[in-house]
Amino acid sequence: MIICIIGTGYVGLVTGVCLAEIGNNVICVDKIEEKIEKLVKGKSPIYEPVLSEFLQANIKNGRLKFTTDISNAIKESEIIYICVGTPSLPDGGVDLKYVEEAAYEIGRHINSGKIIVNKSTVPIGSGDWISMVISDSLKENNSAMNVSFDVVSNPEFLREGSAINDTFFPDRIVIGSSSKKAIDKMLELYKPIINQSFKWPDDKKRLIPKGRKIPVVISDLTSAEMIKYAANSFLATKISFINEISNICEKVGADISIISEGIGLDKRIGTMFLNAGIGWGGSCFPKDLRALSYIAGEYGITTQILNSVININREQRQKVVKKIQDELKIVKSKTISVLGISFKPNTNDVREAPSINIMNNLITLGAKIKAYDPIVKVKPGTLNEKVSICDNAYDAITDTDLLIIATEWEEFLKLDFNKIKEIMTRPIIIDGRNFLDRDYLEKKGFKYIGIGR
Ligand code: UGA
Repeated sequence: MIICIIGTGYVGLVTGVCLAEIGNNVICVDKIEEKIEKLVKGKSPIYEPVLSEFLQANIKNGRLKFTTDISNAIKESEIIYICVGTPSLPDGGVDLKYVEEAAYEIGRHINSGKIIVNKSTVPIGSGDWISMVISDSLKENNSAMNVSFDVVSNPEFLREGSAINDTFFPDRIVIGSSSKKAIDKMLELYKPIINQSFKWPDDKKRLIPKGRKIPVVISDLTSAEMIKYAANSFLATKISFINEISNICEKVGADISIISEGIGLDKRIGTMFLNAGIGWGGSCFPKDLRALSYIAGEYGITTQILNSVININREQRQKVVKKIQDELKIVKSKTISVLGISFKPNTNDVREAPSINIMNNLITLGAKIKAYDPIVKVKPGTLNEKVSICDNAYDAITDTDLLIIATEWEEFLKLDFNKIKEIMTRPIIIDGRNFLDRDYLEKKGFKYIGIGR
């Protein structure tokens, strides 16, 4: 099939690359010229494991193209994906200006019955609104008034850092539409993934055995949109729940890691997303929880659980600062090392990263901060300018009074802790992700402080 992807951000780029990989001809469109120029050369603007290999291979075999020419991309395609950003507005609502722009452009250029797939996370009910914007644009710009189209909601569930695997080996695929024809077309498009029949570079590394069927949830537009918000809200709730339990653990002397294992083995609970720590960040959970709470508010519903989930997450970051104050007493003039800046490992995304919040608070208290991240090399705009970014972990640790692990990058497990003990002024580690081996570090003479243990 010929597919057009509007927006080459995280979701758009990964979706485009993966649809090309399973045999489609994909045209990715973006209005940012420098981004397209880079992509045409096979250079990914984001850090995502294995994305570059697939990107380059599909450019080479001619199935993947990048352009700023939205008109031709829309005209040539059977299925048009909207994958543009939906940032938060100051009041927690969702800014739909990019979705509106994309829908308007679709209306200007569609020329025959097309399927419009919305993958951007949009407020409940936006599928119908997208239809309306396209229809209005059609009336305004397109003489072919009998053009028909169908809108589908197909939320994404991919995680940054494992986006390619999440696309090829999903837990489920959700397709929401009122059009049976459109649903059938989407089922045909996703057939290689649903049947796990696509070629994979190494069969031994398939996360789901070849041929095992992936569940598909077919729904109306609104329910598909709601599934996306509910999924992210539930996952964030799991994390805030375990963080709340971890705070009790600290007081009663229990170890949260064992609690997570003990409850997670109950299949009704599940082991994933029960890692206590400094909390969740990123471009999705914070934005989507705020949006769902805002949408509920429009209907007079107070989202009591979601509000607590958000509050616990905010406090969790503060708790680390409190731990540091307890330990160092006077934070002013102390030098603190922070390992990990991105909101989680295997990504260079720093949006709403807990590390940034913690560092900014420590600077306000008068601390000096030396930070290091394996991938984030440019100081994020939201980070206090007084923070210095170091080229390697040892530079960031030298002559510091305390070390914080803010992101669980594999690289930190391989650090030489004998050397670290020698170069630190005081050997104190706050492990914000419960990632390091406490017994090992204590034997080496470190004071180890985890979360909830
Ligand atoms: C999340 C969802 O997991 C995806 O399914 C969804 O598609 C995506 O949002 C989206 O809406 O686009 P992502 O934000 O990439 O994906 O990252 P997650 O792996 O979910 O982690 C989110 C945050 O939770 C990170 O800051 C991570 O460190 C934190 N986390 C995660 C914990 O603190 N504890 C855990 O046990 C798991």
